[in-house]
Amino acid sequence: MKKLLFVLVCGSLLSGGAVTAQSVVGTNHDMSAALPTSQRVCVFCHTPHQPEGPPQITTDPLWNHTLSVTASYGVYDSPTFDGSGTIADIGGGQTVSNLCMSCHDGTVGLGSLYNNPNLPPPPAGNEEVPTNQGTMMSGNSNMGTDLSNDHPVNFTYDTALATADGELVDPATDPTIQGWLFAGTVQCASCHDPHDNTFFPFLNATNVQSAMCRTCHIK
Ligand code: HEC
Ligand code: HEC
Ligand code: HEC
Ligand code: HEC
Repeated sequence: MKKLLFVLVCGSLLSGGAVTAQSVVGTNHDMSAALPTSQRVCVFCHTPHQPEGPPQITTDPLWNHTLSVTASYGVYDSPTFDGSGTIADIGGGQTVSNLCMSCHDGTVGLGSLYNNPNLPPPPAGNEEVPTNQGTMMSGNSNMGTDLSNDHPVNFTYDTALATADGELVDPATDPTIQGWLFAGTVQCASCHDPHDNTFFPFLNATNVQSAMCRTCHIK
């Protein structure tokens, strides 16, 4: 039995699972069951054609989900946090972390989309301001509107910060970290890949023996 399992695991590695990105389809980010006719997957987050008019969603990439209007999420701080000078509240903003919080702060319905392929054309004027539709996030995945006790996001992680801290990898020397940063800043998606749940929960890399944490932290 163990041998069979070994063969199966090797087989799946050989078939490319280890190198190719996996799909969002079938993960907890696949909400297509709520759209019985079209069964679209990407539409809960993206649309190929953003609607015109206010409020503009300027954050790439082609965002389709109503952003949260939460004005302040608070910011992380501690006596040893060296990023205090650059960390900024994401409240009311359009950082890549706001995209996540458009579902994960529990204030916006999961089905609040600008372009919804299953709904009849919205009433005139309503295209740009979708009503709050669908259930809200609940359970553990509802992070609420206070991020001050969560891993800091929305601050610059550069050589200067690594030097000041003394126990951080210098991102300038590490292409993996560079690929996880957004314009040089740490965001939710610096640790998570919303499209790939290979490393539960949607992590960018395996965190066995805290490998993902140790990509940035020398601990
Ligand atoms: C639950 C929300 C969600 C779903 C569903 C989703 N995405 Fe995304 N996507 C995001 C977020 C958030 C970002 C920005 C963060 C990032 O780049 O990782 C993003 C970024 C992207 C990007 C630009 C950056 C990159 O990773 O290449 C592309 C292209 C993209 N998504 C395509 C898709 C397609 C195609 C689908 C459907 C098969 C899809 N996404 C489904 C949330 C989602
Ligand atoms: C993309 C890089 C990156 C990853 C991955 C990452 N961190 Fe961080 N983390 C940072 C940076 C940069 C800081 C800011 C450090 C500082 O200035 O003190 C930080 C701050 C922290 C702090 C607060 C430090 C303080 O002095 O208050 C803790 C604790 C922490 N991280 C733990 C973790 C853990 C646990 C993981 C894995 C689950 C992790 N980090 C993954 C980059 C990362
Ligand atoms: C369109 C809404 C939506 C957006 C946008 C979204 N998520 Fe989610 N996310 C969900 C839902 C729904 C779940 C499943 C919740 C549950 O099972 O209770 C989930 C679950 C998760 C989980 C838990 C893993 C699991 O499988 O239960 C993580 C981690 C996560 N999301 C991270 C992110 C991050 C990071 C972003 C932004 C890069 C993001 N999400 C954007 C809807 C969203
Ligand atoms: C430093 C890395 C890091 C950052 C930054 C980060 N997460 Fe996570 N997140 C994790 C890890 C690791 C877990 C799994 C925790 C566990 O298993 O105990 C997790 C778990 C989650 C979960 C599952 C529910 C839970 O609380 O365990 C959600 C949802 C989530 N993150 C969303 C987000 C969102 C949204 C952001 C941005 C505001 C974010 N994460 C920023 C590393 C990170």
